Amino acid sequence: MSLAAPQSDAEPVARLPFTPEVEARTTAIYERVKHVIPPFDWPGFAPEIDAINRLKRERNAIVLAHNYQTPEIYHGVADIVGDSLALARMAAETDAAVIVQAGVHFMAETSKLTNPEKTVLMPDMAAGCSLAASITGADVRALRAAYPSVPVVTYVNTSAEVKAESDICCTSGNAIQIVESLGVDRVICLPDEYLADYVAQRTSVKIIKWRGRCEVHERFSGDDIRQYRGAIDKLVVVAHPECPPDVIDASDFAGSTAEMIAYVKAKRPERVLLLTECSMSDNIAAETPGVEFMRPCGLCPHMKRITLPKIRRALETMQPEVTIDPRIAVRARAAVDRMLAVR
Ligand code: 13P
Ligand code: SF4
Repeated sequence: MSLAAPQSDAEPVARLPFTPEVEARTTAIYERVKHVIPPFDWPGFAPEIDAINRLKRERNAIVLAHNYQTPEIYHGVADIVGDSLALARMAAETDAAVIVQAGVHFMAETSKLTNPEKTVLMPDMAAGCSLAASITGADVRALRAAYPSVPVVTYVNTSAEVKAESDICCTSGNAIQIVESLGVDRVICLPDEYLADYVAQRTSVKIIKWRGRCEVHERFSGDDIRQYRGAIDKLVVVAHPECPPDVIDASDFAGSTAEMIAYVKAKRPERVLLLTECSMSDNIAAETPGVEFMRPCGLCPHMKRITLPKIRRALETMQPEVTIDPRIAVRARAAVDRMLAVR
């Protein structure tokens, strides 16, 4: 393994005061989120946001936040928000000295791989992922032995150790493009079996898959969609490719989280059902007044480990820092760089 066993970091207990100065400095931010954060919650969030934004300037730090982070993080302290592909690209391009990853552990590892000389802070080391936990480097070596000379395309939702055994990485936003870029008739696509199904249905390349699943997206079903459509008029259904195939088939559109957001912003449907992690509806709702979001709650417990007080503490203490064994990092970085080179 590239890292010690994850330990959850408890929330700092000291509550910061909501002074008139803090209120004045955070008013513009509250205007952006007032539709999704009730006024009685703001005095708890505003002092943390204010302190984090000051610490970022002092440390020359940026916060990279995934689309599944809660609105107070996404709209309050994030410098860059996006899907896994955008975060990987932006991590590779930033000039900041310190990156705080508001997301899960594999995302912080990806940022460290593309920025070996920078400090990458992970506010809670226990923020894992069921897909990343579904496979080890030894599993990939066994697959390679079973399918010699078949290239391995690995979803970024994996540990650095698994990436190191892979030929190239992909995200949900570029998986088809990456598979086709290899110019072969067969690839191993791991670890998400549903993302592999999604790719297999959209390419002539034969896909060998693994049995990993996202614990959030695997719970949605085609029956859920039919029930929603039966009960709600003019409903547009948008799903993530980590959902089971019957969900994708019953949806109007499927794509990465960034593609889902772009679709909603472009189409402005009257009512939309986003089949993905629940904070994403809150984050886009703050930017798309007039669109009504149905909210079947698919909460990712790993994403929810990241909170404002933990981000503040990470910037105060410059801990916990993500480190990767250099022997693993050099091979894992090659797989990420190969992906980033495909445009
Ligand atoms: P994307 O944001 O790349 O679509 O990934 C979704 C996800 O589940 C990340 O954990
Ligand atoms: Fe992993 Fe699913 Fe959570 Fe994303 S939503 S971090 S894929 S468990």
